[in-house]
Amino acid sequence: MDTVEFIAKYGVTRKQTDSLKWDALEERFGSADLLPLWVADMEFKVPDGVTAALQERISHGVYGYSQIPANYFPAFAAWQKKRHGVLLQPEWLRFSRGVVESLLHLVQIYSQEKEAVLIQPPVYYPFANVVKLAGRRLVESPLKQTATGYQMDLVDFEKKIQEEQVKIFILCSPHNPVGRVWSAAELTAVLEICQKHDVLVIADEIHQDYILQAEPFISVLKVADDAFLKNVIVVNAPSKTFNLASLLNGHILIPDDSLRRQFDRRIGRFSQSENSLLGLIAGAAAYETGEEWFDQLLTVIRQNYHYVATTLTEACPQVKVGDLQGTYLLWIDLSQVCPSEKLETFIKDECGLAVDFGSWFAKESGGFIRMNLATVPRNIEKAVAQLIQGIQKGVKEND
Ligand SMILES: Cc1ncc(COP(=O)(O)O)c(C=O)c1O
Repeated sequence: MDTVEFIAKYGVTRKQTDSLKWDALEERFGSADLLPLWVADMEFKVPDGVTAALQERISHGVYGYSQIPANYFPAFAAWQKKRHGVLLQPEWLRFSRGVVESLLHLVQIYSQEKEAVLIQPPVYYPFANVVKLAGRRLVESPLKQTATGYQMDLVDFEKKIQEEQVKIFILCSPHNPVGRVWSAAELTAVLEICQKHDVLVIADEIHQDYILQAEPFISVLKVADDAFLKNVIVVNAPSKTFNLASLLNGHILIPDDSLRRQFDRRIGRFSQSENSLLGLIAGAAAYETGEEWFDQLLTVIRQNYHYVATTLTEACPQVKVGDLQGTYLLWIDLSQVCPSEKLETFIKDECGLAVDFGSWFAKESGGFIRMNLATVPRNIEKAVAQLIQGIQKGVKEND
C-alpha cells in the first residue's frame, strides 16, 4: 500500500462523532467554524487488526470484569524490542487509564506535599497542572533556544535541583511541543545529574514511535545500557501511536524493585480502577498487527511536515518552522508576524484555525503555535493556505 492508498483507506472526517477536537470547538475556542489542528489525536482509522479484534469482542457482547489478556505483554514487549531495542521485563509493567493520570499518581506516590517537582517548559501543559493539583511545588528549568534548536540548560537544571531540593523531574521524551528527540549524550548528562542529587526521573515517552529524524529514539530504559534503571520510571501508551486515546489504556514501567513495591503499596489508596478491556484488546492487536499501518502513517506525517515547512516559509519568510525531530506536533514561531497578545485572536479570527497556543506551554512562548500534523494532507494544505492568507492580509493592513 502506498501513501495515497493509505490516506484513501484510513483518512476520516470526524465531525459529529463527539470528537473533542472537532465537536468541542465552540466550547473551547468560541467558534465552531474553525479548522482544528489542536489536541493530539488523528484523522485516521486504526489498523484493520485492531478493528477486527474489537469487533470480535463486541460481538460476544459482554464487558464484565476482566484480566490482562495473555497476548498483551508479549505484543507490547516485542514492539519495544523491535522498534526501540528496549528489553522489558514483565514484572515492571503496571497499567493506568492514561499517561496524565499516571503522572498524577506517581507524583503523589514519590513526593510529599509541597516538595518540588521540576519540568522543562515550554512543555506539555498537563505536567504543570498535575504538579499543582497534587499540591507539590512547581520548579521550572526552561529549555534554551539556541542557533541549533532547543537545548536543555544543564547548569540551570542542576542549580534549580539543588536550590529547590527537587524530588522528581518529569522528562518529556520526545519533547512536546518543541519536537526534540534527545540524544544519548543529552539523556546521560541529565540522568547523571538526577542520580547525583537523588532525583527520581519520570520519563513521559508517549511520543516515542514518532521519530522523523535519522537518529533513533533512545529510551531512558536503555541509555547507557541499564545504568539508570534504579532511578527511572517510564510512562507510555499505545494511544498516541495508534489513535486509541479514548480507550483509556496506559503503561507505567518501574524497573526498580523497591520503587515498585512503594507504588503497589500506595496506589490502592487513590485508584481502584479496573483495566479497560477494550483498551487492552485494541493495544495488543495494534502492537501485533499495526506496524505496516504505522510506517505508512509516519510517511504521511513526514510529507505534511515537509509541505508546511516549505510552503509556509516560502510564502512568509518571517515565520520560523521548528525542526521536527520527533512527535507529530509542529512548533511554529509567529512572533515576527503578530504580537503575542494578539496571536490567539489572529489565528482564530483571521486564519480560521484552532491550534494549541504557545502561551499554554510557557508564558514566554506566546508568539508560537503548535500545529497537529497527524491528519489528512487536505486539512494541512487548507490550514497552511488560511495561515498564509491571514499573514499576508495582516502584513498589508500594517503597511
Ligand atoms: C507528552 C504527552 N503526554 C501525555 C499525553 C496524553 O496521554 P493520555 O491521554 O494517556 O493521558 C499527551 C497527549 O497529547 C502528550 O503529548
